[in-house]
Amino acid sequence: MAALGVDVADGRWCDEEALVRSLGALRHLGMTGTKFGGPQNHTILSSRAAKTERDPACACECTPIGLRVIDTGPNRLLHRFNKISIPEATLLVKVLPMRASHLEDFYSFLRLPSVSTDDAYSEKLTECAHWVVEKLTSAGLEARLVPTPGHPVVWGKNKHKPGRRTVLIYGHYDVQPPDPLDLWDSPPFEPVLKDGFVYARGSTDNKGQILSHILGVQEALEKDGDLPVNIHFVIEGEEEIGSGNLGNFLHENRDALKSDVALVSDTGMIAPGVPTMSYGLRGVTALEMKVRGPAIDLHSGIYGGAVANPATALARILATLHDKDGRVTVPGFYDDVQPLQDWERDAWRKIPIDADTELLKETGSSEPFGEKGFSTLERIWARPTAEINGIGGGYQGQGTKTVIPSEAMAKLTFRMVPNQQGDEILKLVRKHLTANTPPGVSLEMVDGHSGPWYLTDPHSAFGKAAQRALKATFSRDVALIREGGSIPIVSEFRRLLGLETLLIGLALPGCRAHSPNESFPLENLDAGIRMNKAVLKEIAA
Ligand code: BES
Ligand code: MN
Repeated sequence: MAALGVDVADGRWCDEEALVRSLGALRHLGMTGTKFGGPQNHTILSSRAAKTERDPACACECTPIGLRVIDTGPNRLLHRFNKISIPEATLLVKVLPMRASHLEDFYSFLRLPSVSTDDAYSEKLTECAHWVVEKLTSAGLEARLVPTPGHPVVWGKNKHKPGRRTVLIYGHYDVQPPDPLDLWDSPPFEPVLKDGFVYARGSTDNKGQILSHILGVQEALEKDGDLPVNIHFVIEGEEEIGSGNLGNFLHENRDALKSDVALVSDTGMIAPGVPTMSYGLRGVTALEMKVRGPAIDLHSGIYGGAVANPATALARILATLHDKDGRVTVPGFYDDVQPLQDWERDAWRKIPIDADTELLKETGSSEPFGEKGFSTLERIWARPTAEINGIGGGYQGQGTKTVIPSEAMAKLTFRMVPNQQGDEILKLVRKHLTANTPPGVSLEMVDGHSGPWYLTDPHSAFGKAAQRALKATFSRDVALIREGGSIPIVSEFRRLLGLETLLIGLALPGCRAHSPNESFPLENLDAGIRMNKAVLKEIAA
């Protein structure tokens, strides 16, 4: 399964077939091979070098699964390499040596459709949990599956030694539903490698990231026979539905799980190659609402104009959630919001990305939209929101149907920031929705999951250790950010175990978590392995 890749034409990653084509083209130019060397596995492809070698520094089972052109040297004529000959051109390419077995592990993990929200998949979740147990075991850890009233938790540990620091590495093996399926270019649970990215549901959220930690530990154990720290792996199957049973697991095992710090790679990097540490997450709380009207679906000619239409009522109620600029109009909603501090505003302004341009590129939206007076990053990282995640009722099939639906529903979530509380927000929202329900219908509401926000000090001793490891891994300065997404259990690590969490994620802005065509760059699977080793060393030091 060794997939090699270098696309000489434009420097992008490519598959084996394209590599063969590229190498063929190189041969055409008399550039017949590769020569490894230079800093960080940079490789010179030159017109003279004629053989393919392994990086001598690399463990012997490694297979180069990717070569990427990062600089074409002084001569950029290679785009036309079929037509001309370039006597002395050199290409600087970056080699990604990775074992073929790592890629196979990734693929088998991704093939398990572990969709936690849908009962139809529950056996698959257990199967996936077993897969993780086996992977941890074969990596050299002691691991077991811990049943819960929901999906199982996987708990793994190395041989703990007194006097060493203990790190709790958390991740999740469950994924979001792949729907809508017709928007995927390839089936969501049949991973494919394209341009150096593996496409599959869960690849970036969170299977690639958590696997890189397991593989990092595996490689370190193979090489040194031991790790510099004691480890607990806690890998759950309910993160995407609010981690409802994990708090209990943590509470029941709080003595055995005693640790110094938690480590989580379920967040993002602000740009490719830019190491990123997140020191904040938004919270999220959910509410499902149903508007009921007539006892049955009715003929809209016979009854239209005489009774309330639940779909219309729902639309009216939902329209009261925001003003025209996207500010939430639920009374009291912003009361507990901690204003953004000047130092944070300044620091975020200096983050080297053009957030609006990136936003439009990633989302395909025509323009940014949201609360006035805040930049895009501020709105995502430090402001609360109300979102309609789903809406339904009435006829959804082909053509028309003249009907007044008997009911209509909507699924809502609210992102929260310090110091908002989920219970309080739901109370305010319920009151507001009830007050805005028009006559002739009734409103039912059911609370969903609720996970608090998280904010920590990036400059703590462990925070600094993580930043040193990130800097060493990526050879770049670390960006400190907050995130718009939520990881419900992180605040529980603090509350139940007294642990601060280091959020050092590897997802790239274009990885499409929760969307069709989710992907994860193999480059970051590799970087994650190195990051894991580096951060454990730094924490131990
Ligand atoms: N990995 C995400 C959280 C995340 C996303 C962090 C983007 C940072 C940036 C996580 O798996 C997730 O999606 N969480 C859910 C939690 C919810 C369902 C309770 C979320 O944020 O919607
Ligand atoms: Mn997610």
